Amino acid sequence: MTDVHPEPMLHVSSLTKTFAGVTAVDAVSFDVRPGSIVGLIGPNGSGKSTTIDCLTGFTRPDSGSARFGGRDVTGWRPEQLAAAGMVRTFQNVRIYEGMSVTDNLVVAARSLRRFTWAEQVLKLPRITRHEAELREEALSHLRLVGIDKYAEAPAGILSYGQRKLVAFAMCLMGRPRLIILDEPLAGVNPTVIRRISGLIDTLNAEGQTFLLIEHNVDFIMRHCDKVIVLEQGRLLTEGAPEVIRSDPRVLEAYLGNYAEYAEEEETLHV
Ligand SMILES: Nc1ncnc2c1ncn2[C@@H]1O[C@H](COP(=O)(O)OP(=O)(O)OP(=O)(O)O)[C@@H](O)[C@H]1O
Ligand SMILES: [Mg+2]
Repeated sequence: MTDVHPEPMLHVSSLTKTFAGVTAVDAVSFDVRPGSIVGLIGPNGSGKSTTIDCLTGFTRPDSGSARFGGRDVTGWRPEQLAAAGMVRTFQNVRIYEGMSVTDNLVVAARSLRRFTWAEQVLKLPRITRHEAELREEALSHLRLVGIDKYAEAPAGILSYGQRKLVAFAMCLMGRPRLIILDEPLAGVNPTVIRRISGLIDTLNAEGQTFLLIEHNVDFIMRHCDKVIVLEQGRLLTEGAPEVIRSDPRVLEAYLGNYAEYAEEEETLHV
């Protein structure tokens, strides 16, 4: 018999993180199902990035747990999680400016497969082969995001929007199971917004699972299967985009500002 309720890919349970008396994440629980796009929204400072930091090993939660792919991954280091198939981008793009764009992708992928120090010093044929495969893979992802002409350029010369695309391409290395993007659209122009939106849709149609933090509510409502709303570190509510859009608590906590902003925009354009 087919299991109609397979275990979620990611199961977050009562995650809590306090910084010097401020509870940034307060007993947050949610699931991410395989093949879905889940949106994480909330006002500035509501704990979105800290939640992701706890999940991806960049900060240690005070309590709570996370299961990924059926395993308890609470407290795992970022490279262990990446090897298990959970990768992320950062709100402020992290890139090695002096390295070529391709090398940035290769370095991101190296942490997925570790070679011993001796193996690396000896440069065994299988390492050389592996490097060549990584460069090929990097180039195919750079082609996909549309910046392959900068493959050999130092990453430092790229614009902010192009760096966001590199960060996205980095995430694709090693075919992760879950891609977590922290504000992929912030500060980028409409062309790059369209490109990133299109890539997310294309990859999702092929089965890729995403967890997205984004302040662009239109984008979240259009692309997500489920939206999770945080307010002051707590989970305010979660549900389908059409339910979230009309939830008065969400409107007050978050979308209210957006509605006002949209009204202003409209006024400006009339
Ligand atoms: N390293 C830190 N040390 C102390 N406080 C922190 C730290 N990181 C986050 N905080 C605090 O935790 C709270 C949640 O911050 P977080 O960055 O998770 O919010 P966010 O929802 O991602 O906001 P934004 O939309 O502005 O990115 C804030 O009050 C923030 O000041
Ligand atoms: Mg943030």
